[in-house]
Amino acid sequence: MKKLAIILLVASSSCFAAEPSAEKQTEIRTMLKNMCSACHGENLKGAMGPALNSETLANKSDEMLIDTIYNGRKGTMMSSWKASMNKDEIGWLVSVLKSGK
Ligand code: HEC
Repeated sequence: MKKLAIILLVASSSCFAAEPSAEKQTEIRTMLKNMCSACHGENLKGAMGPALNSETLANKSDEMLIDTIYNGRKGTMMSSWKASMNKDEIGWLVSVLKSGK
């Protein structure tokens, strides 16, 4: 019985294929702190770029936010980050920002 539970646990955790590796998660969090905060402010509270937190992002669609980070926004300072992250990784990043964790 115990064995079965372990097998189920392993099987279910591997279902989250979109979740980046621990190394990539650390890399993305470091990038948030060092790069994104340059425009979005310390702790992403907002500066030249808008605040990126659970309150400001709550009513915005994941799709739109992922597209903004992946492609950037033409005519604004928000540039594309597709060289650093793929869409799945950005999807994870958006869920982190929305959850505030
Ligand atoms: C050079 C400055 C700059 C950097 C660096 C930057 N951004 Fe932005 N970002 C902006 C600006 C300015 C906007 C607002 C664009 C507009 O006017 O629509 C924006 C918009 C956004 C939005 C849309 C917010 C909303 O409420 O619609 C997201 C999400 C975002 N940025 C995420 C990021 C992430 C994640 C990073 C780091 C990987 C990052 N940005 C780095 C300047 C920057």
